[in-house]
Amino acid sequence: MRIFNSNLEYGLLAKLFHWVTFLILIAQVPFGFYLVGLEFSDERIELENIHILIGITIFYITLFRLIWKFMNPSPTSTINAFKGQVLIAKLNHFLLYLSILMITTSGILKKLFMGESLNFLFFNYGFKKDNFILADAFYQVHIYANYILIALVTLHILAVIAHHVLFKDKILKKIT
Ligand code: HEM
Ligand code: HEM
Repeated sequence: MRIFNSNLEYGLLAKLFHWVTFLILIAQVPFGFYLVGLEFSDERIELENIHILIGITIFYITLFRLIWKFMNPSPTSTINAFKGQVLIAKLNHFLLYLSILMITTSGILKKLFMGESLNFLFFNYGFKKDNFILADAFYQVHIYANYILIALVTLHILAVIAHHVLFKDKILKKIT
């Protein structure tokens, strides 16, 4: 299997980025909602640290994925069932990337504005001064960006089903 994308299908690295991100996100989103429902305890702090570690990992994966995408363009569309279809697909993909980056950066900024030091895997970093108003604002962004991501992923999956069932275009082959 080729590591680079071709005109017809994604290469090995793009496929890995896509499916690893998918597997992490289907665990991380419900994990986040579960976490906030817990009583304050050592266990909750421990689980929050795991949530943050996974979140930082997905942040780096998305950055590497975007760098890879710019170096190595995605396959072109195989079918054009209606006008503007390619544009809608590109918009969906762009917003998916944007929502993941919004979730991760807002989570990071929330913790930093709380005045806490954060483990960025390769280094630790913290702001000198806290700002609880901004910390709360970024936490709101964190929550709403999660709802946006859920809506976008739902549309994304419905589009794949439409391609298979209505347009008879086996689009999944491009990424599996
Ligand atoms: C957390 C869930 C998911 C996210 C965030 C996600 C994100 C993305 C993104 C950003 C792309 C565009 C890749 C690029 O060209 O840069 C893409 C492509 C694609 N994804 Fe997903 N995806 C998810 C789940 C799924 C699932 C469950 C399926 C299958 C049912 C799927 C099938 C596809 C297919 C077929 C493409 C290629 C579309 C095309 O070339 O027009 N994805 N995905
Ligand atoms: C794509 C990655 C991430 C996803 C999908 C995600 C998802 C979530 C969700 C759904 C919640 C629950 C929100 C609510 O209903 O109140 C949450 C809470 C939270 N997230 Fe994330 N998150 C991610 C990354 C991060 C990162 C990178 C950080 C910080 C560095 C972070 C820090 C937090 C914190 C501090 C909470 C509140 C936990 C608590 O109050 O105990 N998250 N996250």
